[in-house]
Amino acid sequence: MNKLDTALVTTALEEAGFGLSESVKEADVVLINTCSVREHAEQLVLSHLGHLKHIKKSRPDLVVGVIGCMAQRLGDELLEHEAVNIVCGPAEIPQISELLAKAVRERQKSLAVTEKIRRKGSQQQSRALEEFESAYGIKDERIPAQAFVRVMRGCNNFCSYCVVPYVRGPEVSRSSEAVIEQIRKLADHGVKQVTLLGQTVNSYKYKIGEKTWSLADLLEAASDIEGIEWLRFVTSYPSEEHFDEIMQVMAGSPKVCEYLHIPAQSGSDRILRAMNRNYSSRRYLELLDRAREIVPGISIAGDFIVGFPGESEEDFQATVNLVEKARYKNAFIFKYSPRPGTKSDKRLQDNVPGEVKQRRNVELLAVQEKISDELSREFLGEEVKVLVEGLSKKPHLNMADAGDNPQLVGRSSGDWIVVFNGPESLTGKFIRVKIESVSPLTLFGRLT
Ligand code: 5AD
Ligand code: SF4
Repeated sequence: MNKLDTALVTTALEEAGFGLSESVKEADVVLINTCSVREHAEQLVLSHLGHLKHIKKSRPDLVVGVIGCMAQRLGDELLEHEAVNIVCGPAEIPQISELLAKAVRERQKSLAVTEKIRRKGSQQQSRALEEFESAYGIKDERIPAQAFVRVMRGCNNFCSYCVVPYVRGPEVSRSSEAVIEQIRKLADHGVKQVTLLGQTVNSYKYKIGEKTWSLADLLEAASDIEGIEWLRFVTSYPSEEHFDEIMQVMAGSPKVCEYLHIPAQSGSDRILRAMNRNYSSRRYLELLDRAREIVPGISIAGDFIVGFPGESEEDFQATVNLVEKARYKNAFIFKYSPRPGTKSDKRLQDNVPGEVKQRRNVELLAVQEKISDELSREFLGEEVKVLVEGLSKKPHLNMADAGDNPQLVGRSSGDWIVVFNGPESLTGKFIRVKIESVSPLTLFGRLT
């Protein structure tokens, strides 16, 4: 979501006459897009701001803006920071070029956050967001051949630990016509892979006339668009609604990637209840079974929070058991971080000590790594289709016969990272790679 917002804002600013600078030293304006999901992310921003405050001592004309969830969450408080000139929440980004131009001109502080964020926004606000989204969503070419398309904003789930509903507002699905139109334009601009985005993307719902569109309908319609070769969607909430339909579209359409990101958060039913997640570990695992029945070979990823208030060794063991049964391709594991304003922060004590959280994090990662390793070995000797993303950022040393070609990285339909040697001109293209060696999260091979 934040990557998309960053891309939209960058494109809007370029259109307004600003140019992108690679270093703070050369920049007249520094914009920081922020995340509030965990405290650590917010602390990083504060430390950047501390650094910028220092720089501003010798360059008082430097304009600093904070956008994103932290801007919405802290509002005024953030504006008081010595370094900060602009604070702009996620629902206010259509104003960003104006705010910046004004700050550069007048050097005054300005605040643009949404009051009463849980209320449905005004028609004017949703129109502005929609226009911003469709105007700038087609121009970003920073990741060749790939684009994100938001299909919904906000969230209504109120998981007890989560700040998102308080900073991104209520769940609103974008019009299916606007989404399809946007994908069509992207395809015309050479985009081959589109990732549909929503906090709970599988609860997408939009009524036009008699028909209520679901994510399955969107995927089906998007599959008919010429030029689009791969479609993905993140993130799914473990809910029965439309689940089979979505899996059936995945099974039936060669364009819908066989990948499902479906966070479980915990394997303990007691903790799941305290988290206000509406499922048990048994029902969660049943969903995975159904996914695998309908889409054999589907690659599944999950998210977990360890050290939620009151999580006992027994609860943690239940999570380990679930991870062992789920056989994820990979899992993102986070240590519980109390977020101000959320239910778990208000009502529960953050009573699992830091070192216990850390140990559980490491232990769960090790359990998952073994599974990732086993699953990756199944690819040895196989040929996989890969969309090339570009030069590999961290060259892997085990490729002896590189020749003159650099190391490239791409992803398979199942979201496996694939590393191989080839000309950089392959970026943004689909190619086939024969897998020769593996590590738990990466497949290595050669072009066929
Ligand atoms: N503490 C730790 N992790 C969190 N997540 C969301 N809120 C918190 C929190 N307060 C994790 C969840 C979610 C992912 C995006 O971040 O696992 O799926
Ligand atoms: Fe947060 Fe839960 Fe909504 Fe996901 S579903 S964004 S974890 S409240």
